Amino acid sequence: MRAIGFGKYGGPELLEIIEVPEVNARKGEIRIRIHAAAVNPTDIMSRIGAHFKHNKIDPFPHVPGMDVAGVVDQVGDGVDTNINIGDRVIAMVVPKGIHGAYREQIVLKANAVVHAPINTSHAEACTLPMNSLTARLSLDLMSLQASSVLAVTGSAGAYGGYIIQLAKNDGLTVIADAADKDYDLVQSLGADYIVPRGPNVAAAIRKEFPEGVDGLADGAVQNEIVIDAVRDGGAFTAVRGFEGEPQRSINFSQTFVRKLDGEFEKLDQLRKLTNEQKITLRVADTFKPEDASVAHTRLEAGGTRGRLVIEFHPEDL
Ligand SMILES: NC(=O)c1ccc[n+]([C@@H]2O[C@H](COP(=O)([O-])OP(=O)(O)OC[C@H]3O[C@@H](n4cnc5c(N)ncnc54)[C@H](OP(=O)(O)O)[C@@H]3O)[C@@H](O)[C@H]2O)c1
Repeated sequence: MRAIGFGKYGGPELLEIIEVPEVNARKGEIRIRIHAAAVNPTDIMSRIGAHFKHNKIDPFPHVPGMDVAGVVDQVGDGVDTNINIGDRVIAMVVPKGIHGAYREQIVLKANAVVHAPINTSHAEACTLPMNSLTARLSLDLMSLQASSVLAVTGSAGAYGGYIIQLAKNDGLTVIADAADKDYDLVQSLGADYIVPRGPNVAAAIRKEFPEGVDGLADGAVQNEIVIDAVRDGGAFTAVRGFEGEPQRSINFSQTFVRKLDGEFEKLDQLRKLTNEQKITLRVADTFKPEDASVAHTRLEAGGTRGRLVIEFHPEDL
């Protein structure tokens, strides 16, 4: 069975098709014939060896990828989550060694797998799990009351888009950053206020909310330079581990989506919101497995709007 892996840390050219053993669903597990795997920034961190310290003790090759969509082709005993052979499903994958999403087939615990949203292609569906769960976790960590004001950086990105849409669904007011070219996109996601992105974004947010905002989700990973946007006693959540120097009673949190591995009820809730079109899915382009390095190169270059997706098993469709 084919997967896309790398045998050492380094550039996108290291991604190659590798053969990995077939896997079978055991008790409490589900096997998915994968049709689509999203390409996320974390896959690049994994490939360059920067992100997951524990990967360094796994033997190579590594198979990256945290998002899958596909069709169930085996269900182990004792699965009671209403998932059956032939169902279209999605899941977040926590990669370890050759167990990553860039492969033709994967076995996951049943509590990681939910039905795919209705009226979506596999490519669209695979963009939902990891980033929408991350956005949900960020909002939960900040514990904002309805009618609070949330600022979002990196708004045009996958995480940024989901957190804007979820925050609006939670009844929050959202102020989001955008480059001129992304203004219409960020507005369509539901942002109430839009300010220019970049190093002066905190001042621009303060201009709209002089006391500062109640919460800030830093999808652009601007760290220190956006803290000033947050009011005294407000919340700041980071997506790459930034801890923030204690100051002004701000509640700094670190959003790590792996914490939600196996929380299928949360993912199912996000699926329902997608069915209701409160969350929208964006695909920028699709790639054959042998072109995975091209997808990584494009994502690394920046400027992608919508997710890049690697497709498997086109012969089934
Ligand atoms: N901790 C976790 O569990 C977790 C989970 C998911 C994601 N993440 C992290 O969350 C971040 C966002 O992920 P994503 O998938 O949404 O990435 P993405 O789709 O690439 O979006 C990032 C957005 O931020 C923009 N941006 C980059 N630098 C900026 C800057 N200095 N000022 C303003 N905007 C800037 C990018 O614009 P350009 O394209 O124009 O550069 C892009 O629109 C990544 O760092 C990712 O690793 C963490």
